[in-house]
Amino acid sequence: MTLGIFRCAAVDSKETLSEPQISPAKLKLLMHSISKLDISHLITFDYPQQNAAGATCTAQAWAKTPPQLHGAEKAAVIARIKQLLIEKNAALVAHYYVDGDIQDLALSTGGFVADSLEMARFGKNHSAKNLIVAGVRFMGESAKILSPEKRVFMPDLDATCSLDLGCDAADFATFRALHPDRTVVVYANTSAAVKAQADWMVTSSCALAIVHQLKVEGKKILWAPDRHLGRYIQEQTGADMLLWNGACIVHDEFKAVELEMLIAAHPNAMVLVHPESPQAVVDLADVVGSTSAMIKAVVEGSAIEYIVATDNGILHRMRQLAPNKVLIEAPTAGNSATCKSCAHCPWMAMNGLQGILNCLENASGEIFIEEDVRVKALGCVERMLDFTQNHPDLLAKAQHGFVKNIGAA
Ligand code: 13P
Ligand code: SF4
Repeated sequence: MTLGIFRCAAVDSKETLSEPQISPAKLKLLMHSISKLDISHLITFDYPQQNAAGATCTAQAWAKTPPQLHGAEKAAVIARIKQLLIEKNAALVAHYYVDGDIQDLALSTGGFVADSLEMARFGKNHSAKNLIVAGVRFMGESAKILSPEKRVFMPDLDATCSLDLGCDAADFATFRALHPDRTVVVYANTSAAVKAQADWMVTSSCALAIVHQLKVEGKKILWAPDRHLGRYIQEQTGADMLLWNGACIVHDEFKAVELEMLIAAHPNAMVLVHPESPQAVVDLADVVGSTSAMIKAVVEGSAIEYIVATDNGILHRMRQLAPNKVLIEAPTAGNSATCKSCAHCPWMAMNGLQGILNCLENASGEIFIEEDVRVKALGCVERMLDFTQNHPDLLAKAQHGFVKNIGAA
């Protein structure tokens, strides 16, 4: 088992909170979890983040990777999962970043592999009594918010996200209270307790269309938590947005200088960038989009080569859907580093086959959300699903905005 400690995203708003830190309660919880682990396996990741005032956050989080199964053992676990999915009336829903074996298992058992928007919709619409969500915590919570009548399980409940960790519900309430005139739009990568305070939830698939629409309606926006996605949406729509200062520890690592060198070496490659990446990296993109938009670009694009700036778990599905295209991972480090392209979310990596089996055999990893929080969070999630279903035209138009040089929606 490999464990890692991460210094995670600083979390003060530009305007209101001066102390960049995870709340003491959440930090205590994390440190308690760490203290239960075998420290000899810990790997420290030096990941300082700065707040708007230039102070460095030293808050920590941890992740662990499950044991890899091989050969006959792996085949036996897969066979048992397939059998139990039927017996227990369960469906497996996976994100593009999780292990390729899990993605294949989801697809071969009538489950689903998708971006965070379509994972939520699939879970809601599916008739199964039980959902196994292979992804990170907020994805399981979104499924439970939408389907309280279903039991929702995750292979490892500790699989979280730096954006979620970096947006404490109490701190967010303070930020919100200072700006009561603003429409609150939160990214899917937040806890149920933060969604309970929001008017809208968005994912990277629909954020541009929804914020554009809010701007047309004359709304001013309070945005959390990803500062890079928020900045990008602000630039594209011209909306009046106040941004929380959170970041994804995976996408924040892409390096523009290195990417420029890679582009020079592959002048005909199309550059695909997830909008959680820093501005200098986004500015080099041919296509800026969600995981599903990036896959679509590879499948439909006329180029042979694609430079991909997102978690490298996505390459599995891209290779399956576009076997003749050449995929090149965007750099996260310079020439002297030991790892040049190591964009892989430590929390997505916590999903393993054994964890899925535990969900089905032992009902482990079940998601519970307090009913009053769930009911409050439901409004913003349903609003997003209704909008995306009822305005495919606006969604498609906004997705044009993701293509460089075509301009905003
Ligand atoms: P998508 O909504 O594009 O799948 O992104 C989710 C995510 O966590 C990206 O890091
Ligand atoms: Fe969160 Fe980044 Fe991991 Fe996505 S890749 S789940 S945004 S930490």
